[in-house]
Amino acid sequence: MSRFTLPRDIYYGPGALEELKVLQGHKKAMIFTGGSSMKRGGFLQKTEEVLKAAGLETALFEGIEPDPSIETVMKGAQAMREFEPDVIVAIGGGSPIDAAKAMWIFYEYPEKTFEDIKTPFTMPKLRNKAIFVAIPSTSGTASEVTAFSVITDYSSGIKYPLADFEITPDIAVLDTDIPLTMPPKLTAHTGIDALTHAIEAYVATARSDFSDALALKAIGDIFDNLVDSYHGDKEARGKMHIAQCLAGMAFSNALLGIAHSLAHKTGAVFHIPHGCCNAILLPYVIQYNSRVCMARYAAIARYLGLPGGTDKQLTDSLVKAICGLNKELNIEQTYAANGVSEELYKEHADAIAHNAVLDPCTLANPRPIDDAAMKEVLACAYYGKRVTF
Ligand code: NZQ
Ligand code: MN
Repeated sequence: MSRFTLPRDIYYGPGALEELKVLQGHKKAMIFTGGSSMKRGGFLQKTEEVLKAAGLETALFEGIEPDPSIETVMKGAQAMREFEPDVIVAIGGGSPIDAAKAMWIFYEYPEKTFEDIKTPFTMPKLRNKAIFVAIPSTSGTASEVTAFSVITDYSSGIKYPLADFEITPDIAVLDTDIPLTMPPKLTAHTGIDALTHAIEAYVATARSDFSDALALKAIGDIFDNLVDSYHGDKEARGKMHIAQCLAGMAFSNALLGIAHSLAHKTGAVFHIPHGCCNAILLPYVIQYNSRVCMARYAAIARYLGLPGGTDKQLTDSLVKAICGLNKELNIEQTYAANGVSEELYKEHADAIAHNAVLDPCTLANPRPIDDAAMKEVLACAYYGKRVTF
């Protein structure tokens, strides 16, 4: 049996925040957010207003940091246990949405530890105490529709993707006014994150006809809109918000691959934003995987109308198109060019490679990989060498 799981309802478009009124009948909403961006844009206040007008009592937990920690998750779960919400509303980037998902688990199961929930697809049943509503403010992670929550253990420097369909949100609200306040760099990084989701999902071992359709459409829309969105085009920004969600629907079910395994591990050690890591890694990972799934990459290139007669030429065209896109977004193509010193890279390369092999995303990669090969792919991405093995 195979399974394909998505949130029950998705509200989308300009001003979609108003639709939070569907929560009427619930009693207490606890709102989770990051630093100050949602307040600055007035979106936090609007969320509170709509919920209050629908008759809900509200409480606020703010200050969730980018790349949220286990400590923040435990603090938020404690706050939930004190307020006892029957609705959890997370508004912000992937970080606050992911953190709130993990808090939700420890709200419903206070006796569980982080160790207990690390193994993918072993989570206990949720929704005994609350349902989950996600409102994304970046156009990249698609945490609003995914079965993942990425939490960082700062004591070991490892990012853990928690995974289970139990934490797929119940309601996603894609208000296309919210990502309009993203600065260009965040737009670029999160946009390439979404592209990486779609491309990894299209070749992943758990892919299906459902995920293929969503992934291809997302790839096309991202190539059509990301550069314009980066330059501030309002309509393109809105299209990117939807496209990243399509990519999320695909990868939440098809899973990802080693671009993400390495992005999770290098992001935590090199302190480079998640999307930027993916932008660096994706071309090298395509070269590595093309040994086993060149026809799939060629199909993407054909869909995009890229030049080439053979699968090899088309795959090369795809790699070139991604590097060209990065260039237009002012993202440098190697870790070295992104400011990671050779000393830092060499000190951590073995551990990064080893931990990346153990990352759950590696299981869905089309081509198997061991520590030595992972270290080679990382070296190519550090120095900017073509992967030829
Ligand atoms: O904290 P605030 O003040 O809100 O500012 C944030 C933060 O500084 C700012 N920001 C967010 N929306 C904004 C905005 N600034 C202006 N206007 C807006 N509309 O952006 C900064 C970064 O926010 P963050 O939430 O960290 O970014 P992103 O959405 O890229 O999320 C990254 C996290 O998601 C994880 C990553 O590993 C990383 O921890 N991922 C989650 C996935 C999932 N749940 O399925 C999958 C992804 O592959 C990814 O791993
Ligand atoms: Mn990602």
